[in-house]
Amino acid sequence: MTNASKQDRVLIFDTTLRDGEQSPGATMTHNEKLEIAEMLDDMGVDIIEAGFPIASEGDFAAVSEIAKRSKNSRICGLARANFKDIDRCAEAVRHAGQSRIHTFIGTSPLHREIPNLTKDEMADLIHETVTHARNLVENVQWSPMDATRTEFDYLCRVIEIAIKAGATTINIPDTVGYTAPRESADLIRRLIETVPGADEVIFATHCHNDLGMATANALAAVDAGARQIECTINGLGERAGNTALEEVVMAMKVRNDLMPYQTGIDTTKIMSISRRVAAVSGFAVQYNKAIVGKNAFAHESGIHQDGMLKNAENFEIMRPQDVGLSGTSLPLGKHSGRAALRAKLEDLGFELGDNQLKDVFVRFKDLADRKKEVHDDDILALMRDSESAA
Ligand code: KIV
Ligand code: ZN
Repeated sequence: MTNASKQDRVLIFDTTLRDGEQSPGATMTHNEKLEIAEMLDDMGVDIIEAGFPIASEGDFAAVSEIAKRSKNSRICGLARANFKDIDRCAEAVRHAGQSRIHTFIGTSPLHREIPNLTKDEMADLIHETVTHARNLVENVQWSPMDATRTEFDYLCRVIEIAIKAGATTINIPDTVGYTAPRESADLIRRLIETVPGADEVIFATHCHNDLGMATANALAAVDAGARQIECTINGLGERAGNTALEEVVMAMKVRNDLMPYQTGIDTTKIMSISRRVAAVSGFAVQYNKAIVGKNAFAHESGIHQDGMLKNAENFEIMRPQDVGLSGTSLPLGKHSGRAALRAKLEDLGFELGDNQLKDVFVRFKDLADRKKEVHDDDILALMRDSESAA
């Protein structure tokens, strides 16, 4: 597969177990990593970045075991631009049915200062390390870290070198989440138009969420020809996180009229993996998080609940079942109206006449003013009070 307009299939590269796990405090145990990898494999993720094998014995063991167990996904490990990292990575992924080495180096002026290399020295190193990786595996991804703050001419030059050395995927990281959507699209488009050999490789987009634009930037990059999105479950990742898998996948599904791209993801598996990643990483999902937040398919206000009871499309743009939920939730609170209370009472087995409903509704409003959420037990107690007062 190559880039751009030729294809509408977008590869999903999940890095929950590598970039996601790099969030301070998100470390997962060996078994938890295996469990998440199995779920990613099962939901149709194309490439799983399973870890950074040189980082620790534990990471090496997790990547190796995931490589042995994977059924459908390609298993990838991360390596810096040196032979030791790359050899260790190759060793870790070697048992996978399909493997990948992902090697990277920071190419922006700021990041070039870290190894203190001149532009020419860095270009030579990229040539040597990508060639070395390609001698070990067929499938090599190369990333110019901080690409979005790298001089365009230099970026073109090093990408061309990486392609000639055998890279099969070129990833463009917005490492510090600095880019805006129009820039993200322009950069990918210009790179594909300018770099010799760009048509022979896949361009990937890897966005961070420091300005809350990771999803928009990733989708803009796809519109411009990128055909791999790097993302994590729940947007887990360093600082403000990475592009959230569930957001880009559902955006392309729900707005397929505007973004006519396909992924291989079974979206009905989204909620279960989101909950599992939240549990094992210890990073709770915010209530109003798109797609997977507790309130993403919940409606409390009377007008919305009434509208939902008449036709779910009034206030929902996707079906909760499409992300693996059993249905919409209409929590009762002080903003709720009579229609939702009646529906809840019917659910609990009560058929009320208009007068009794009026009485219970008054009691309910009084309670709701004192309580954030009114639960089934509260409704049962209200019914008992109403019946004994009658
Ligand atoms: O954000 C980043 O630049 C990375 C690279 C290692 C690809 O995660
Ligand atoms: Zn990253």
